[in-house]
Amino acid sequence: MSEPRKSTNRPAGNVRAWVNGERVDPTAPSIAAVDHGITVGDGVFETCKVIDGVPFALQRHARRLDRSMAGLGLAAADHKVIAAGIKAVLAGEPIAYGRLRYTVTGGTGPLGSDRDSSPLTYIVTAGPDRPNPDSGKLVVVPWTRNERSATAGLKTTSYAENVVALAYAKERGGVEAAFANSVGDLCEGTGSNVFVVVDGEILTPDLASGPLAGVTRELVIEWCREEGLTVRAEPLPMSILTKAQEVFITSTVKDVMAVHAIDDRPLPAPGPVTAQVVEIFTRRSRERLDP
Ligand SMILES: Cc1ncc(COP(=O)(O)O)c(C=O)c1O
Repeated sequence: MSEPRKSTNRPAGNVRAWVNGERVDPTAPSIAAVDHGITVGDGVFETCKVIDGVPFALQRHARRLDRSMAGLGLAAADHKVIAAGIKAVLAGEPIAYGRLRYTVTGGTGPLGSDRDSSPLTYIVTAGPDRPNPDSGKLVVVPWTRNERSATAGLKTTSYAENVVALAYAKERGGVEAAFANSVGDLCEGTGSNVFVVVDGEILTPDLASGPLAGVTRELVIEWCREEGLTVRAEPLPMSILTKAQEVFITSTVKDVMAVHAIDDRPLPAPGPVTAQVVEIFTRRSRERLDP
């Protein structure tokens, strides 16, 4: 494998990067200035958890990438190319706990929203992460998700809306934001799905409510059902957050995280049902690295 090109600006830190077939310095220029992923956010990405150098649930992430590419109307990604990038960034000293992120964009394009027929751009990065706290506060944000948007449910690189909402939540002591959708139903967080527990039942917004089909959400639903818990995905009014006895969020980098407050409303964290979900998820995810 060739050595990454050296940057003349700030150090690469712990992130390993690979772009279109080459290991690169993550802070050095390696993407065209007119890449459509940069100019208009015309790209998709996936983030996988890495444990002891091995990525978790790779196949589910690959399937979601395919859905996101198709949803944007981009050509199908070449998974052999992505696999080569993953191998390159995970080679060497194993990352004990971290994240792998791969991005595929429409490639170079015009300055506007039109596309030309240039080849796709592939970017693969990986680096260590700090483990998450066991619980956190959820802050309801004043902006809505549009469940009828052309990109609803797609994991596109147009994430500025999430950047703004997460900053709003963090300024208020939160670990994550909660979005309503355009009809006032609960949707999701900036990078996680939301579950509530009402009278012993686990409820989460259905996909028609506009959330991303989280890989962790999918596994929680499947595994909890297999273990006899009631889990329903359905439209949930925002007022559910004021009556839920427990709330938890799920994501690749957070796994299952208990919510100890929603805005000023304290909650038990973890409540008994959430503790059961954490136990099921922890046990089942250790059994198979690519469930
Ligand atoms: C908007 C959004 N919702 C939900 C999730 C959770 O999905 P996953 O469990 O696949 O990480 C993510 C994280 O990637 C996300 O970006």
